Amino acid sequence: MVGARITVNGKEAPISPAAPHTTTLDFLRERGLTGTKEGCAEGECGACSVLVARPGVNKPTDWVAVNACLVPVAALDGQEIITSEGLSPAGEPGRPPALHPVQEEMAVRGGSQCGYCTPGFVCSMAAEYYRPDRCAHADADPGPDSNPNLDAGTGTGTGTGTDAEHGPNGFDLHALSGNLCRCTGYRPIRDAAFAVGTPTDEDPLARRREQSPPPPVATEYTRDGSAFLRKSTLDETLRLLRERPDAVVVAGSTDWGVEVNIRARRADCVVAVDRLPELRELRVESDHIEIGAALTLTEIERRLDGAVPLLAELFPQFASRLIRNGATLGGNLGTGSPIGDSPPVLLALEASVVLADADGEREVPLSAYFTGYRQSVRRPGELIRAVRVPLPLSPVTAFHKIAKRRFDDISSVAVAFALDIEDGIVRTARIGLGGVAATPIRALATEAALEGRPWVAETVEAAASVLRAEGTPMSDHRASAEYRSAMLGQSLLKLYAQTSEAVSS
Ligand code: FES
Ligand code: FES
Repeated sequence: MVGARITVNGKEAPISPAAPHTTTLDFLRERGLTGTKEGCAEGECGACSVLVARPGVNKPTDWVAVNACLVPVAALDGQEIITSEGLSPAGEPGRPPALHPVQEEMAVRGGSQCGYCTPGFVCSMAAEYYRPDRCAHADADPGPDSNPNLDAGTGTGTGTGTDAEHGPNGFDLHALSGNLCRCTGYRPIRDAAFAVGTPTDEDPLARRREQSPPPPVATEYTRDGSAFLRKSTLDETLRLLRERPDAVVVAGSTDWGVEVNIRARRADCVVAVDRLPELRELRVESDHIEIGAALTLTEIERRLDGAVPLLAELFPQFASRLIRNGATLGGNLGTGSPIGDSPPVLLALEASVVLADADGEREVPLSAYFTGYRQSVRRPGELIRAVRVPLPLSPVTAFHKIAKRRFDDISSVAVAFALDIEDGIVRTARIGLGGVAATPIRALATEAALEGRPWVAETVEAAASVLRAEGTPMSDHRASAEYRSAMLGQSLLKLYAQTSEAVSS
């Protein structure tokens, strides 16, 4: 059997002797590829960003930027990655390699001072540079001292219009939302991002997009008594999980990677499910949308393309693009966190989860899925295969995430609304809450206070009082219980302010 291997900057290398928990970051640095840096080791700074060849949305391959500090290198068995050192083809012997266009723009526009964050920025920027549906709207060179005259925008994360977060070259600044710089300041970096052009026909990484990415390979990587395993099919995986119910199941490893790095957790057996075809389908049926549990949030965002407005509102607020390139709905629900960003939204959408084990499948409403702090009805050996969102969708929706930073932060409180308002009367109201109880919850009392009543200030103010009393919010380092309660009420008042005009017109 051929041992586990990875292709880095066009050269194949054995993964051995790395341990099954060794991160891609440590693997690369051990091999001398020290452009990839460690800043935080928990997915928050982007210094470790690298590009992975993944199935594309508009071309066979997309270059996708991920946090190398979170992904075990064994998870990339058979895969192909590019680091900052590999962006440009090698130069002539005795001469330094030519800069890649994004490196060039970062250099000439002063986007790098100490340089620690720069390789990570450059990789995230390169992923956006190669995004096939990035469209230029005007002159792609605003000049080194430019301050682009940009309108305020909300940023959908995939948009191609020109606004505060999208350059005239179509560059989506959300691509850099997971990269932090402590010393340069972001304006020169933004200038560089908004100045990059489009890849030439000769660009090897652009040409690489026309071929398929490496197919997933079954992996059995064992060292010193611990194992990283990847099966080819769902059936094989479920049989394995029946034998090893103690196994840690990972998809993008955005949660497990933090546990490994920060809490020094180790597992005897890690089972990867992120490439299983059965978990990567997105189907629109007449009465529901089924979203595979192992599709990344970026893939869902691009494939749905706004078809579920509440999800479209969630995605830009869910961590960073780097995290969304690996994170999955299955993972966010599987951890059972009371402050996960997707549960309030999925509760408001009345979603259900499809759980699979070696004996078959069952569908559980998400409102019945969580049973306690980080606990759920999911049994040992069971896997989340998909999430189902019923159709039709309620027309009035909003997701309010209250956090200290607009992007890439953990919520103090999260509230998702899905309301059906007809002739000025609230016909149905579904409200999902995060951060106010041991589990994500539905605001059932508030829903009852709204349903059947006119969508007017009096109703909303009364319901906001009910909403302030939902859950059992606690005080912690993020917010006090009183603040959390107050934010619940404010959230409904904000929704009313945002929507009452539209509803009455
Ligand atoms: Fe900070 Fe990886 S080292 S995100
Ligand atoms: Fe110093 Fe960004 S250039 S941290």
